Amino acid sequence: MENNDKKEPSTVVEVLDGGPLRIKGHIVLKDLKRDITKACEEVMLCTCGESANKPFCDRSHAR
Ligand code: FES
Repeated sequence: MENNDKKEPSTVVEVLDGGPLRIKGHIVLKDLKRDITKACEEVMLCTCGESANKPFCDRSHAR
């Protein structure tokens, strides 16, 4: 099995304490419910369920 620890990751997912998931890299985000497709380099996804702009974090978690 290949050791990938030394390779530079193409996408990084960070679990932010008490907040969203921050995803960095070449991202294509698809949401089947609203039929959105977003190509971007960074996205913050809500994990608390309070965002009025799901699946994106709108910082409602901080209120
Ligand atoms: S994680 Fe930020 S609004 Fe839900």
